[in-house]
Amino acid sequence: MVCSNALDALKPKAGHVSRLAVNDEESLDPTDWPAFQLQAHAMLDDMLGHIQTLRMRPVWQAVPDRVRQTFTEALPQQGTDLAQLHQRFLSDVVPYSVGNAHPGFMGWVQGGGTAVGMLAEMLAAGLNANVGGRDQIPLAVEKQILRWMVELFKFPATANGLFVTGTSIANLIAVLIARTARLGQVVREDGLTHNTRRLTAYTSAGAHVCVSQAMDLTGLGTHALRVIPVNAQCQIDTVLLHAAIKADQAAGFEPFLIVGSAGTVDVGAVDDLAALAAIAASENLWFHVDGAFGALGMLSPQVAPLLAGIERADSIAFDFHKWGQVPYDAGYILVRDGTHQLDTFAKSTTYLQRDARGMSAGSPWPCDLGPDLSRGFRALKTWFTIGTFGTEQLGRMITKTCELAQYLKSKIQQDSRLELLAPVSLSIVCFRYVAGPLETANQLNADILIALQESGVVAPSGTWIGPHFALRAAIMNHRSTAIDIDHLIQQVLNLGDEWREH
Ligand SMILES: Cc1ncc(COP(=O)(O)O)c(C=O)c1O
Repeated sequence: MVCSNALDALKPKAGHVSRLAVNDEESLDPTDWPAFQLQAHAMLDDMLGHIQTLRMRPVWQAVPDRVRQTFTEALPQQGTDLAQLHQRFLSDVVPYSVGNAHPGFMGWVQGGGTAVGMLAEMLAAGLNANVGGRDQIPLAVEKQILRWMVELFKFPATANGLFVTGTSIANLIAVLIARTARLGQVVREDGLTHNTRRLTAYTSAGAHVCVSQAMDLTGLGTHALRVIPVNAQCQIDTVLLHAAIKADQAAGFEPFLIVGSAGTVDVGAVDDLAALAAIAASENLWFHVDGAFGALGMLSPQVAPLLAGIERADSIAFDFHKWGQVPYDAGYILVRDGTHQLDTFAKSTTYLQRDARGMSAGSPWPCDLGPDLSRGFRALKTWFTIGTFGTEQLGRMITKTCELAQYLKSKIQQDSRLELLAPVSLSIVCFRYVAGPLETANQLNADILIALQESGVVAPSGTWIGPHFALRAAIMNHRSTAIDIDHLIQQVLNLGDEWREH
């Protein structure tokens, strides 16, 4: 126990004179705290005002050259007043972000964030905890999220998990874990150079490119990833999958991993996860689910049944920053048997020695579960988000986005000028304005897309569905409403009709 006298002795005394050549009382803390607090409150209020009035501004607008130029200044030797920099933030940064917080944003697959999440980010930054390890309560907060995810996905108590930047890295971690589980820890020392076992992995043609990237980065190679065609529902064809596994086994390959998708990036298709789990079990393969946005559909009673089988996965990658509405970034990897995660990443060093007491207690640490040592406190904004809204309200938001997608689908199907290009399973809708020959239609829809984005009212993104260029509305944002869907439809029709009339 440290006595208070000992702490008193550490306080600077009046008339303290530095024994150093520099002024050792100088720090980066404010010299005028009351003035700083006023400025801080103004900054907070401005940002809250921004979130409150999102709909009154464009989703996105092109960055003027003048603004871009302001970010090419030389490295500053002297500081600038905080209030002045904040004004620049307001004038030159805020209006020119991509706008995924805006209710009219429907591009790619991006969450909208919340005011609660923003406050939590501020608190985490204030605490400045490095949650790579050591005995501190932020690690308990992260473990709390693990327990909640174990409950949500019906995983056993043996599970472990880790916050990472996003699903791209979570998928990479999963492939590494599956590789080590198959080849043994020896692969961490020997690498793959002298390995004669030819491992193969399997995923669908609709899988995100980061799955193939993970094969590349782990040294297994993209050719070792078998890309299996999809069925009419854009799900992996499980008959072809099984046949491919059998053919590889017969040819001397060693199948080790199936990556299923719970919400493909293009169209939001959910693979038959129960069927994948059964194939993985019968062939003794690792079963990983890329649930980047779809996995948190477990929060919605309407979506959860579509994910049946996810509870049998060996690992799940997903993002709280998509359907979970936690501010960027907050990806997560959940592993059924946490020992595999430790086997893949834990290492011992003198400088990260563990103790039974003191700051180095509490092993294993998060740095034993993934490649990061220094890590921000992503768990805090997730804890605040789940804690403030509860799973029911978060689930309702997910259900709402799916209902909006169905509403959009019905609008498309009611209008002969429009064509739905893929089944709508979750909250992504791919469609086009129908316009004669393929090339003409593709060019027109690509032009419509740019015009929509430049309009600042609604902003989908584009993709290709077979030979068709598609307008892709990924409705992820809890702020989006039927009004945004109506705007989208109306603008597409206006732009298409305008083209037709000329
Ligand atoms: C299915 C799927 N997998 C992986 C990713 C990559 O996730 P992140 O951008 O968080 O790395 C995405 C992103 O949209 C996705 O939709």
